[in-house]
Amino acid sequence: MTRMLVTGGAGFIGANFVHHTVQNHPDHEVVVLDALTYAGSRTSLAPVADRIRFVHGDITDAPLVDQLVAETDVVVHFAAESHVDNSLHDPEPFLRTNLFGTYTILEAVRRHGRRLHHISTDEVFGDLPIDSAEKFTETTAYDPSSPYSATKAGSDMLVRAWVRSYGVQATLSNCANNYGPYQHVEKFIPRQVTNVLLGQRPKLYGAGVNVREWTHVDDHNEAVHLILRSGRVGETYLIGSGDERSNRDLLGLILELLDQPAGAFDHVSDRPGHDLRYSNDSTKIRTELGWQPTYGDCRSGLAATIEWYRHNEWWWKPQKDATEARYQQLGR
Ligand code: NAD
Ligand code: TYD
Repeated sequence: MTRMLVTGGAGFIGANFVHHTVQNHPDHEVVVLDALTYAGSRTSLAPVADRIRFVHGDITDAPLVDQLVAETDVVVHFAAESHVDNSLHDPEPFLRTNLFGTYTILEAVRRHGRRLHHISTDEVFGDLPIDSAEKFTETTAYDPSSPYSATKAGSDMLVRAWVRSYGVQATLSNCANNYGPYQHVEKFIPRQVTNVLLGQRPKLYGAGVNVREWTHVDDHNEAVHLILRSGRVGETYLIGSGDERSNRDLLGLILELLDQPAGAFDHVSDRPGHDLRYSNDSTKIRTELGWQPTYGDCRSGLAATIEWYRHNEWWWKPQKDATEARYQQLGR
């Protein structure tokens, strides 16, 4: 039996990770630690509620984290403030959770000699020119643009320092943009899909030329399990499907899959400091650990995700009005 502590397990990727783990790794005993911020929901864990232990608490609560880490074998650290637009509006919670929270986890795994996997993002590298073939690699220098990516970059640096200075047994991964079920409606794909389902128009920032690499959440979580099983301690692995699309093109595909006219969306004001393009070279995890995305092309994963939102309005509807009210304040 492996005892696994999953931080942020009531959020988008964490909840999918818990589902995946319960289904595919019955030898794992899962404990979720989550503060249930606006981004976390216990309903995301409802399908596995009787097979896990849920602890409602904060990763900056050192005594609680210490006690939970003492009782576990491995920590998978997803908990974070995760939305760029929110970080531009109010950076403070990002510093607290992403930096101080990660520090709190690191101190506990150091004290108890536990294995840690730290989940991060390609946004730590800054951005790439739109019309180039350049890609981020594990050795690309960090150059974050937003308070979100700056605090994630800082958290990665803390993990590396704790590995080198204290011998903490940790691995890191930086994944490209994820999509799939249970993603908060503030993020690009769920926002546009739920707008259409409610008869509202999708909102495209600026001209929509910015490029993202879309990776299905199940492919990301499969990669995390591979790293836990066979990854080398101290190493970083970049994860990405290879499917890059401009926001305009991706919105075009969403509209097509929802039987909407191609021009049925609004342009809204652009995000300040908007990163142009992200693209991960995932050769290392593919060759060293044999990872392959099931959804190399996002079309089928996107169609399934749209169906999930169509059939699970009960899950996302309660978030929708407050989210759109926040966007209205931001003029987006
Ligand atoms: P999310 O915002 O959907 O979920 C975050 C979860 O963390 C929520 O359940 C929230 O309640 C919890 N949380 C926040 N602050 C906490 C605290 N102080 N203590 C305990 N719990 C707290 O985020 P997500 O999209 O699932 O992202 C998860 C991780 O993956 C993050 O570390 C993020 O940086 C990283 N990541 C996300 C993407 C993406 O496209 N979403 C891509 C690459 C990496
Ligand atoms: P998002 O899902 O916020 O992820 P990230 O900023 O971390 O990449 O946004 C993805 C892209 O979509 C990003 O370039 C911003 C853009 N975007 C829109 O055009 N309209 C929207 O309503 C949102 C939320 C994002």
